[in-house]
Amino acid sequence: MTVTLEPNPLLEGLRLRRRPDPCLLVIFGASGDLTAKKLMPALYALALRRLLPERFGVVGAARSEESDDEFRERMKKAVQDHARDPFRDDVWEELADGMRYVTLDFADDHGEDELARTLAELDEERETEGNRVYYFAVPPSAIGTLVEEIAERRTADGWIRLVIEKPFGHDLHSARELNAQIQQHFSENEVFRIDHYLGKETVQNMLALRFANGIFEPIWNRQFIDHVQITVAESIGIEGRAGYYEQAGAIRDIFQNHLLQLVAITAMEPPIDFTADSVRNEKLKVLKAMHTPGPKHIVRGQYGLGFVEGVEVRGYREEDGVAQGSMTETFVAAKLFVDNWRWADTPFYVRMGKRLARRETTIAIQFKRAPHPPFEDAGQELRPNVLLIHVQPNEGVSLAIGAKVPGQGMAIRTVHMDFLYGGAFREGLPDAYERLILDAMLGDATLFTRSDEIEEQWALVDAVVAFWQRDRPSFPNYAAGTWGPSGAEELLARDGRSWGRH
Ligand SMILES: NC(=O)c1ccc[n+]([C@@H]2O[C@H](COP(=O)([O-])OP(=O)(O)OC[C@H]3O[C@@H](n4cnc5c(N)ncnc54)[C@H](OP(=O)(O)O)[C@@H]3O)[C@@H](O)[C@H]2O)c1
Repeated sequence: MTVTLEPNPLLEGLRLRRRPDPCLLVIFGASGDLTAKKLMPALYALALRRLLPERFGVVGAARSEESDDEFRERMKKAVQDHARDPFRDDVWEELADGMRYVTLDFADDHGEDELARTLAELDEERETEGNRVYYFAVPPSAIGTLVEEIAERRTADGWIRLVIEKPFGHDLHSARELNAQIQQHFSENEVFRIDHYLGKETVQNMLALRFANGIFEPIWNRQFIDHVQITVAESIGIEGRAGYYEQAGAIRDIFQNHLLQLVAITAMEPPIDFTADSVRNEKLKVLKAMHTPGPKHIVRGQYGLGFVEGVEVRGYREEDGVAQGSMTETFVAAKLFVDNWRWADTPFYVRMGKRLARRETTIAIQFKRAPHPPFEDAGQELRPNVLLIHVQPNEGVSLAIGAKVPGQGMAIRTVHMDFLYGGAFREGLPDAYERLILDAMLGDATLFTRSDEIEEQWALVDAVVAFWQRDRPSFPNYAAGTWGPSGAEELLARDGRSWGRH
């Protein structure tokens, strides 16, 4: 089947980006879940849109034994199953032609020579000038040795970029160690630490909304904003990843990275330009200005048996591979403060968890009430203005405003002014990984986390985890399919507020 992409006049001028230099992409962890579900479909989407370098190749590496052909076949199936675009043989063949697979065990030296040989051959064949992107889709423990190996074999030809998946370390100590190990051989502009939320269009749109419009910035502060609510809710459980999740919990899986980055982007000062350092300097200031929430300001939870979308699901402790008395949290809610002139005393209420009522990531900016509404009938129907950013799903922005109900009298009710991506741009949103892989190839680190940001994020998490050691909450404390433990509601109720039901 031949599929042509319809030109979309609304997108004209939006795609005037450079094409990356010729290069080879090495994926460590090529037999894993991430490669099949995200990386390969993203590469296919880029190939389809002719955004990959003209001269390009992919080398997959993992422990599993596989031939080049088996690897290509498995990746073809992954693209057919997970890509957002229809499958086109010609596009796939062109991409697959430059694909190789190497069996490699990071734990010993086995396979490193073969990888070097394959890279040299492919380099010559595809004329990729020695340029390499190394993508680490592997557990953090494997990264250090690989980095050393890459550094040792570095030649004067071409550039090297290291793309490193989250989680980056397990705590501040391990993250510092890993940063130090990398920085011994590579400069910061060669390192691309992934937080895939930053690759999401809607997260970037928060920056567009704030800094491309004149109307929001003057009111984006403690004088006009009552509080901010950020929700990162998943309806799925741990999907067979108990080994990882038992060690991580919600605090390391979501809070340490995605959640704190969303707070930073919401709260940051306008950067002087959209370059990597300007944007990251401003985010860093926010992270530095946040203090650790005290025990009363942070709530943790673990799901028990319940119903999600009408289907009965097991509790966390009953999931395969989870310890019977596991104390791992699957939910966190917190009241955070950013101590600076813009935000002093303005709470940022955040919550995130698994097996919640539905999948939803939102940032809600709740403005203060009108000081003196002169309408008697407004009553409870009139809620304060809320600017709601739907990060996913139903990507878009919605502004809740009071409007007059048609008819006699001055009855006022809250209505919504909506902007939906699908409606405005008539094109499916690219997956975050498309943008991030392309940016790494282009050497643009704006949407990646810098070492100092990662370390600030871990410092906050370590402080929370330290006081969590002192008590044992009674788990499970929320039923699957609800919005978390009652403590999360109380966190806001104490301040006379409640979570929005968007
Ligand atoms: N899956 C996701 O959606 C997702 C999302 C965000 C971040 N991440 C992060 O991405 C990374 C990979 O995740 P994943 O879900 O793809 O994990 P996974 O399915 O467990 O895959 C891990 C990969 O690493 C390879 N590997 C592990 N130890 C190795 C060793 N000693 N030598 C050679 N290869 C080794 C495995 O190879 P073999 O199987 O051949 O041994 C496999 O290809 C993790 O850091 C994860 O936290 C994943």
